[in-house]
This record gives sequence, C-alpha cells and structure tokens, in this order.
Amino acid sequence: MAKKGRVFSGARPTGRQHLGNYLGAIQNYVALQRDYECVYCIVDLHALTSLTETRELRQNTYEMALEWLAAGLDPKESIIFVQSQVPQVTELHMLLSMVTPMGRLVRLPTFKEKVRQQPDNVNYGLLGYPVLMAADITLYKANVVPVGEDQAPHLEFTREIVRRFNNIYGEVLVEPQILLTQVPRVMGIDGVNKMSKSLDNHIELAATPEETRKRVMQMVTDPARKYRNDPGHPEICNVMTLHRVFASDPSQMPQIEADCRAGTIGCAEHKRMFAEDLNRALASLRARRAELAQHPQMIRDVLEDGACRAQAIARVVLREAKDAVGLP
Ligand code: AMP
Ligand code: TRP
Repeated sequence: MAKKGRVFSGARPTGRQHLGNYLGAIQNYVALQRDYECVYCIVDLHALTSLTETRELRQNTYEMALEWLAAGLDPKESIIFVQSQVPQVTELHMLLSMVTPMGRLVRLPTFKEKVRQQPDNVNYGLLGYPVLMAADITLYKANVVPVGEDQAPHLEFTREIVRRFNNIYGEVLVEPQILLTQVPRVMGIDGVNKMSKSLDNHIELAATPEETRKRVMQMVTDPARKYRNDPGHPEICNVMTLHRVFASDPSQMPQIEADCRAGTIGCAEHKRMFAEDLNRALASLRARRAELAQHPQMIRDVLEDGACRAQAIARVVLREAKDAVGLP
C-alpha cells in the first residue's frame, strides 16, 4: 500500500522512558507506522549539549531502543537508528546554521530555560540545538513530526528555517507539520510540572508493579480538595486525566468521576484503582521488554540496519542541499 508521506521523530537517550514520553510521543510513533514511512532517531548528539558525564550514553541508547521496540515500534516497518551514526546530519546542520539568525536562537524559550538549568554550561552546541533538530527533520524530508507539546517552538523554528533556505537556494527542503497526541503535555506526580526525569517526578514504563504503586500513591491529586468527603474536581485532577487514558474499562470512568465529584470516593482510594489499571495496561509492554532484553545483539543489529537505511536517504537529500547551495 502506498504510504501517505514520511514521519520523523527523535528523542534524547535518557534511558528508561516515562509516561510523558509514552503518551506524548511514543504512542504516536507506533500508530503512524502503518500509514507512513517512519524514521525514528535516538538523538545522542543532542544529548551531548547537556551532558558533561557521558559514560551512560551507550547504555541509555540501548535501553531507549529496547523500550521503543517493546512499545511496538517494528524495525521491519520503521527505520530506527542512532543520530551520530548518520553523520550527514552534521553537514546539513552546518548549511542550515548559515540561514539561522542568532537572535532567533537566543530568544527561543527552550534555550532560555536551559540557560537557567545549566548556567555553568551554556555551550555553543546548546544554542545550536534547534538547528540540529531542523537538520534531523529536513534530512529525511519529513512531512509529519510526532512530539510532545514542549517541542512546538522547535517545530515552528524548523518551518521558518526551511522557508528561508528554500527562498534563498530553491525549493529543496520540506516544511514539516507537528503532530500532537491526545495528551500532549503529561504532568508529573507533583501535579504542577511537566513529567520529566530530571525533575524526578516521573513514572517509568518499566517500573515494577510495586514501584508503580508507590509512585502513584505519591501523586498530587485535585488541589481544591482537602478532606476525604469534600466534593472533588476531576477536571483538574492529574490522576483522573491519566486514569482516563489507562482505564481497563473506560465505560466505568463516568461513574468514578461522579463518585469523585460527590465525595464518595477519596483520592487515596482512587489512586489505588488507577495504579491497578496502570499496571494492567503496561503489563504486556513490560513482558515484551523483559523478553527483548534477553537478546541485546538483536537490538544492536536493528540499530545498525537502521543507520544503513537512514544513510541511504540522507546521502541523497544532503547532495540536493549542497547542489542548491552551490557546493561541489
Ligand atoms: P525527551 O526525553 O525530552 O527527549 O522527549 C522525547 C519525546 O517525549 C519528545 O517528543 C517530548 O516532547 C516527549 N515528552 C517528554 N516529556 C513529556 C511530557 N511530560 N508530556 C508529553 N510529552 C513529553
Ligand atoms: N528536541 C527533542 C526533545 O528534546 C528531540 C529531538 C531532536 C527531535 N531532534 C528531533 C524531535 C527531531 C523530533 C524531531 O525531545
């Protein structure tokens, strides 16, 4: 069957993935495989912009690949590879950097946030992070980019750079569309910040059922509800938002919400129900992960094959871009 176009997405090798990665991005990666030609990249060069300690990079890269496969990415359908193994991206990054205004990079909210987070390591690569991301996407002429909401400014930036490049050198690159999921911004267990490993407010996909239960019981619920019998507000409760997604029996959710609103079930009780449903929903992913972990060589083969297939596309597009610019 003819595919509708090409999808590209990337994620930094942070190792074990959390519910935010899963609901914000990975679920869409999996869903798009049938209708699109998909390219998924573990962006280790991007990770270097924030890392000074790189010893865990290899292991984290391997674990990400493992979890992507466990979640349902199919290496026969999709290209799955590691960014640094397709070096053409750094060359395209260089070409794109020449059409990128400095001021635009300095003003990006994501850059400003990083400067706040790592004031002692504001390196040149960090400033160029979005340019490398634009190179990732355009090197594959991707039409669609599934990501979480936090990446929206980078996608907008990519679209601008594509327009500038094409205006100056001719129509070579493709302007991509962002694709968000139903839950584009998953909140952490603190209920106020985006779920992220660096804030330690996350729940890992590969956690044991016991660890999962423990994390869920720490979740902040409805901030407007103080006592067990107070009426609840499911529309502002992070546990309810996630429960709707992972419910074993979605037809029970309206009743649970009504009980919460009436104050007849308490937050702790609801969290126990959610933890059980979450463990049930993740059971098959966890079982597949354990099975795949028995075959580390297979994971390495998938990445090697992915790099080969990615390079075949990358070489052609880079050549077109260099021709357009006038490089030999
Ligand atoms: P990262 O681990 O930050 O490289 O993110 C990998 C992918 O997961 C990106 O598409 C992010 O937008 C997405 N993502 C990360 N954290 C969250 C979150 N809390 N909610 C929704 N999407 C997220
Ligand atoms: N910046 C993305 C993140 O932090 C990762 C990323 C790098 C990416 N290159 C990409 C995402 C290309 C989509 C497309 O999550």
